[in-house]
Amino acid sequence: MKDILVTLLGALLTFTLALPCSGAPASPDSGRSLILFYSLSGNTRLAAEALSRLTGAPLAEIKTVEPYPDDFHAVVEQARQERSTGYRPPILPLSVDLDDYDTVYLGFPIWSNSIPQPMASFLSEHHLEGKTILPFCTHDGYGPGRSFRVVGEYCPDARVLPGFDMLGSEARDAEAKLKAWLKEVNVALSDGTSSSSEASALVIRMNGVELHGELNDSSAAREFLRRLPVTVSMTGYGGREYYGDLGELLNATEEGRLRFDDGDITYCPQNNTVAIFYAQTSCPDLSMRVIPMGRVTSPLDPLSRMPRRVTATFSLNSALSGD
Ligand SMILES: Cc1cc2nc3c(=O)[nH]c(=O)nc-3n(C[C@H](O)[C@H](O)[C@H](O)COP(=O)(O)O)c2cc1C
Repeated sequence: MKDILVTLLGALLTFTLALPCSGAPASPDSGRSLILFYSLSGNTRLAAEALSRLTGAPLAEIKTVEPYPDDFHAVVEQARQERSTGYRPPILPLSVDLDDYDTVYLGFPIWSNSIPQPMASFLSEHHLEGKTILPFCTHDGYGPGRSFRVVGEYCPDARVLPGFDMLGSEARDAEAKLKAWLKEVNVALSDGTSSSSEASALVIRMNGVELHGELNDSSAAREFLRRLPVTVSMTGYGGREYYGDLGELLNATEEGRLRFDDGDITYCPQNNTVAIFYAQTSCPDLSMRVIPMGRVTSPLDPLSRMPRRVTATFSLNSALSGD
């Protein structure tokens, strides 16, 4: 009976198998995953808990032996001193055996554009050889800094996949963004279905109208997905499209094409614009290549009635995105 239970448990755990962008397994077949995090004020903990709900992987926390002060400025000063002197605060023994896991989601807050000192303490003691590491972090708006690179430097014999970062203030609603990241790193979610081949459900709010759509699996679409929600000032052009500057370049590898289909959501690498095409005209050829990132699936006729200048907000429709 015990043997059967152990076998069943093993089979269940393989559902947390992590896959890299290529689609090949990123972790050994056993696919045992752990979410290991450090969090001082609770933001990263919220993201870690959301990740646990999405992946089914258990949580473990890194804790310092001596707690940091309650006062934020005192923490900043202590952290600054620890960093400048290279001091690594002692941490408590983990509640889990790392040998039991092949994939480690490693979560932390950003401190001074890098990993916090308690995470440095952990990584200097554990190099996570042979494991797949998926770093994730929360911050106050300055981004992940050099943290992901630093994780790689501490763990030269681990495989570090592209990291995830988000504002700590948004960690309470982390699931949709985490899901997009998991999709990007091609992780099979806890229900055992890889979402890699699914289209991502989009909602586009434009001039008071809610359009629905989906993103495909192109590199442009995956990059776009990571930035959602995105608000773009769009201009109508030629009775066929709305286009607008994305502000940030997408690192797209596709070449693109000089034609469009109705409903296409495209990215133009040449002028860094996103466009929604809604009507073929007598002149369907484009002067610049566009990469199809997805399409609008709801009726397109509201687009032909909109004013020339509109604001469009693209966001992930998490209610439809594989839940
Ligand atoms: C000592 C210290 C240094 C910080 N440095 C940065 C920083 O360089 N960039 C940033 O965006 N946020 C910085 N923050 C803000 C935290 O990264 C952010 O609030 C995070 O979400 C906190 O996560 P936690 O609640 O899991 O501890 C810093 C916070 C502290 C306490």
